[in-house]
Amino acid sequence: MDSIKPGITMVGAIDWDRRLFDSLIPLPDGTSYNSYLVQGSEKTALIDTVDPPFKDMLLNNLEQLKVGRIDYVIANHAEQDHSGSIPEVLNKYPEAKVVCTEKCKVMLIDLLGVPAEKFITVKDRETISLGDRTLEFIHAPWVHWPETMLTYLKEEKTLFSCDFFGSHLATTDLYATDGARVYEAAKRYYAEIMMPFRVQIRKNLNTLKDYELDIIAPSHGPVHDKPEFIRQAYHSWTFNEPKNTAVIAYVSMHGSTREMVNYLSMSLAEKGVTVKQFDITVTDIGKLAMALVDAATVVVGTPTVLAGAHPNVAYAVILANALRPDVRFLSIIGSYSWGGKTVEQLAGLIPNLKAEILQPVLSKGFPGEADFQALDNLASSIAEKHKENGFS
Ligand code: FEO
Repeated sequence: MDSIKPGITMVGAIDWDRRLFDSLIPLPDGTSYNSYLVQGSEKTALIDTVDPPFKDMLLNNLEQLKVGRIDYVIANHAEQDHSGSIPEVLNKYPEAKVVCTEKCKVMLIDLLGVPAEKFITVKDRETISLGDRTLEFIHAPWVHWPETMLTYLKEEKTLFSCDFFGSHLATTDLYATDGARVYEAAKRYYAEIMMPFRVQIRKNLNTLKDYELDIIAPSHGPVHDKPEFIRQAYHSWTFNEPKNTAVIAYVSMHGSTREMVNYLSMSLAEKGVTVKQFDITVTDIGKLAMALVDAATVVVGTPTVLAGAHPNVAYAVILANALRPDVRFLSIIGSYSWGGKTVEQLAGLIPNLKAEILQPVLSKGFPGEADFQALDNLASSIAEKHKENGFS
């Protein structure tokens, strides 16, 4: 167990082997469920718990530290990877009260059956004293659920930020010492979890400008003892304009669509646009999500299957619509043999994306001269739009 400061101890669990979250999100580097024990001169608080399969690890850690009493279990967030072991903690420490937002209380009753009398609900900026230490609760809705709050330990200038600033990364390093690795994991996390709530994230980043932060201790991944690193990364992901980048995500069955994708990639590159190309059938969907954080343009490539888009393409498009990237231009390319409603179908799957649709290019069979010319025109159009908007 690592100690951040005297009386502030990481008591959570590292999940080295987890490879999928929400039965959806790949976790190539595992994850951790960070729970923090904060001991004051009079009271003791446990900030968040762990995913239920790891509850024994949490309880053993508390036992090893000879924690005889917990006064407050701070539930920053109701999702079960942090709240799921609250019932076991309450069972072992029956005097403890769960401290959370009013919305979180309702969710914890619904999700875990925590009895209503166990709660103390707190308003935004309300504080609780642990004696010589003070916890301040900062409501932070939609990072990434509506009930979320952050907990600020005033005397130590330490922010327990739950999912905010987190990363799915299993490591024995307490602190984010491997900058490049943590940046990649945090960006992946942002892309998959936080990007749909970009506007609210901006507001919460602005709220934190009022706070001096020496340490940011999230609920996944390493702790940030140089918080500017992760604050600046979040600032760039949420505030910056998209880059001069086009993401091409595609499926090809017999090579026609792949030929079009390769041709468009080369044409875009010749015109100065950076291309990130993903074969959806084999790609790590997290890498695609990360690419969407910065891309100004997305082009979807699909063959026509059963009169519509390839189902794997439809899946990726539905996911992209849910992630709500700040994409400005969209197009569709692909091939068909006898017809279909591919463009109409895909256009109907992206109501969340407020992007300009550029002229699709669909080839009957293997692409010919006219199709390649149309792809060159599409590439020119993308390059010009990026230039006009100052994307670099
Ligand atoms: Fe890590 Fe939203 O739970």
